[in-house]
Amino acid sequence: MTKSKSGFSKLSKDEKIQWILSEYFSGNPRAEKTLKQYWNDNESLQKLHDDFIENTLSNFYLPFAVAPNFRINGKYYTVPMVIEESSVVAAASKAAKFWSKRGGFTTTVLGTEKIGQVHFIYKGDKQKLISFFETIQPKFYENTQSITANMQKRGGGITSITLVDKTSEMEDYFQLHTIFETKDSMGANFINSCLEEFAKTLKEEAQHYISFSEDEKNIEVIMSILSNYVPNCVVRAEVSCKVEELHEDESYARRFVQAVQIAQLEPYRAVTHNKGIMNGIDAVVLATGNDFRAVEAGVHAYASRNGKYASLSSAEIKDGIFRFWLDVPLALGTVGGLTSLHPLVKFSLEMLGNPSAQQLMQIVAAAGLAQNFAALNSLTTTGIQQGHMKMHLMNILNQLEATDEEKRLTTLRFHGRPISHSAVVDFVENLRLRKEQI
Ligand code: MEV
Repeated sequence: MTKSKSGFSKLSKDEKIQWILSEYFSGNPRAEKTLKQYWNDNESLQKLHDDFIENTLSNFYLPFAVAPNFRINGKYYTVPMVIEESSVVAAASKAAKFWSKRGGFTTTVLGTEKIGQVHFIYKGDKQKLISFFETIQPKFYENTQSITANMQKRGGGITSITLVDKTSEMEDYFQLHTIFETKDSMGANFINSCLEEFAKTLKEEAQHYISFSEDEKNIEVIMSILSNYVPNCVVRAEVSCKVEELHEDESYARRFVQAVQIAQLEPYRAVTHNKGIMNGIDAVVLATGNDFRAVEAGVHAYASRNGKYASLSSAEIKDGIFRFWLDVPLALGTVGGLTSLHPLVKFSLEMLGNPSAQQLMQIVAAAGLAQNFAALNSLTTTGIQQGHMKMHLMNILNQLEATDEEKRLTTLRFHGRPISHSAVVDFVENLRLRKEQI
């Protein structure tokens, strides 16, 4: 690109595509075809997707799959998963089935608190600020009545507002630290709207507060925003069984527990361990139209809450019982956002029985624990590559544009044999050579 483009967002979708094609693809019609082949024939459905974000050119497909046999608190679920990584869904399904025969997953919501903060600068007498805050507290609630009315009807709202002195960390820095209950919505819009109203109230009321000097009246709000760190919006998922019901090899349970202990003490391992958990969590979060970036940010902060990045899951053997559990912060919603817009999200939620946010937290946590179990099971026994390459075989075959017959013969050939990219390429090339020679 030689120069910047102004007014791009004002162009029509077709004009945007034409500009991209001429700027980056020398007008190659193949590039246009690539974009357009992912358009949906149903124009209104396409329009719905176009309107989710700005400058939409096409749709970016990810597989939508399901993992059946998730027994959670005695009830069976088929869990929707959206993910590109082969073997994740197979692993989740296998782990779900394994645990369904051993009592299934037990899940408990440990808390549902959401957090938001108004960050502001106040230059003056701290005691006066405390008195001011106490005086105007009711105003924060009064001035947000129109925003909170509906949420209150659903049993949610503002739980508490606290003035926090952060001046030991940054000069003149204070916060309004607020706790919210947002029931079945993730609550980002609700929280941010309340916070912006608090900021307005704070500034306006300061102007009229008689005890403040002129300087003290000039409270400067730096920003008002929810926090994606939700250490009190946590769900626990756990599985347990007698050690002898876990595996025929009696050392299995001990090695499994040691693998978890390693992830608790060694950050390099913990990150990969937790990534495996997020394979399950993100896939369900995406399929149910939730914000996986928010979940990821919150989860990893939580994994560091004791000052060192560590495993989210724990395991123990006590009195002959193997127990494996996961505590994870999940700010999820089953109303609002994409949940009533995206047809596949609606499908996912309906398949899950239209869960409340708390029920969804439990399903998602179970998916995370299942994924973690599957990964540790492979890692501590056969190694990860065996199962992974088996699932990856289809990707290699698709890269090679293998025919159905080539896929069938290759799958047959590699059944129970080690799979490597080069071995598969050699085998398919050989098949093709032999065909040519016939
Ligand atoms: C791969 O996506 C995830 C794993 O690396 C997780 C783990 O190591 O626990 C298999």
